[in-house]
Amino acid sequence: MAEERTLAIIKPDAVSRGLAGEILSRIHKAGFAIVAIESRRLSREEAEGFYAVHRGRPFFPDLTAFMSSGKVVILALEAPGAIARWRELMGATDPAKAAPGTLRKEFGTSIQNNCTHGSDAPETAAFELSYFLSGRQLL
Ligand code: CMP
Repeated sequence: MAEERTLAIIKPDAVSRGLAGEILSRIHKAGFAIVAIESRRLSREEAEGFYAVHRGRPFFPDLTAFMSSGKVVILALEAPGAIARWRELMGATDPAKAAPGTLRKEFGTSIQNNCTHGSDAPETAAFELSYFLSGRQLL
């Protein structure tokens, strides 16, 4: 399988509960290389631009308020088949439906506060990686 990159975010619910280190450890153990990493708080406008495909959905205002409510950890992850493998490690969007052992099952508390984000396709990964990370960070 070809090397691939995906954009991962450790969301404010996980960072504020001190779970970033545990999630990073699981990322390493699962065999991903961390190409770039940055911890900072997003502005509401940045969160709105990032989730622009969801604009108009009922959960959009709450989602963008939540994503700009505290620090996040933004990551570029690399591995063979990274997009699918990171989604598998996260589990289903809704923690209640996520498989045992997945990050969202263990650490997510609601469909919104689901501890992590991951790109869902190569096109989205390209957009999301360039949305947050500079060319120099992605070298
Ligand atoms: P994420 O994978 O980051 O993509 C969109 C986010 O919207 C999702 O995780 C959740 O945090 C949030 N969200 C809130 N409500 C819903 C919903 N009903 N369906 C999908 N995503 C939702």
